[in-house]
Amino acid sequence: MSPAPAPAGAPVTVRAPAKVNLHLGVGAPRADGFHPLVTVYQAVGLHDDLTAAPAAPGEGLTLSLTARPHLDVSGVPLDATNLAVRAGLALAAHHGRPADARLHLDKSVPVAGGLAGGSADAAAALVALDRLWELQTPDADLLRLAADLGSDVPFALVGGSALGTGRGEVVDPAPDAGAWWWVVVPSDEGLSTPRVYRHHDELRPAAPAEPRPAHAVLAALRAGDVHALAAALHNDLQAPALDLRPDLADLLEAGERAGALRGLVSGSGPTCVFLCADVGAARSTAGALQESGRDGVLVVPAPVAGAHVLDVPREV
Ligand code: C5P
Repeated sequence: MSPAPAPAGAPVTVRAPAKVNLHLGVGAPRADGFHPLVTVYQAVGLHDDLTAAPAAPGEGLTLSLTARPHLDVSGVPLDATNLAVRAGLALAAHHGRPADARLHLDKSVPVAGGLAGGSADAAAALVALDRLWELQTPDADLLRLAADLGSDVPFALVGGSALGTGRGEVVDPAPDAGAWWWVVVPSDEGLSTPRVYRHHDELRPAAPAEPRPAHAVLAALRAGDVHALAAALHNDLQAPALDLRPDLADLLEAGERAGALRGLVSGSGPTCVFLCADVGAARSTAGALQESGRDGVLVVPAPVAGAHVLDVPREV
């Protein structure tokens, strides 16, 4: 049987950014298994685009996928376990309405890379379906739905630079006077976030309940001082990520030798990010890393906006 034609209605495309953690202080695990965090998120110019188009009543939520060349998306599920589909179901349930829409995801953010690509997709789905279904959900409700979907999802809605507390889901915008340039180096193989947190607990059995504060990073952002920011970058998940993937230490060293001010594992890894003094330094660092045989090296500006509707929907 051929599918019923979709009802008329304008598709909506939402662009949502990847993130890096400029500071990631991790405390001892809470009773619910999550770790208390003090983190500083920054949204970077690397995006997934999600298009939501109308579907016939009863069709449910379907998801199709494309990706930029050479991006491995074999690990992305297309069923109801995909975070974008879960976001759509949660939004529909919140409003007590049917969840009928055709979702198409065009991925550029590496999968399982420590860049919160899946969280970006969930945030994009919330914003796109809110518009498609003409719901006008209050921001506070969207943020609550986002927090239930994952610790990084609220930040993907907010974007810019922001302080994250709780398990990362409590997000407050952070004043940021800078225009920063990052080199992003993805890895062929992803790292599981729960595994890196577990290994963190093994390496730091006496981690304090209170995570390390982020004063130095917040001050560097306020001042727009790239050298101060480079000196202040901190990630408590870097040691466990490097222990699980010792090859990343060579990469961090290579990027700093190539001209970056500082290299850092992004979140739980394995993507490594390199803060550079300006766009020229970022381009030459990226060029040197490419010449030494690294694939998929990107130069991205930051901060950028959180999930937002594009004026012209993408063709799918
Ligand atoms: O919140 P989210 O679903 O993205 O988290 C994925 C996994 O990462 C959790 O199941 C948990 O193992 C770990 N995590 C954690 N503490 C946090 C955030 C995530 O232990 N604050």
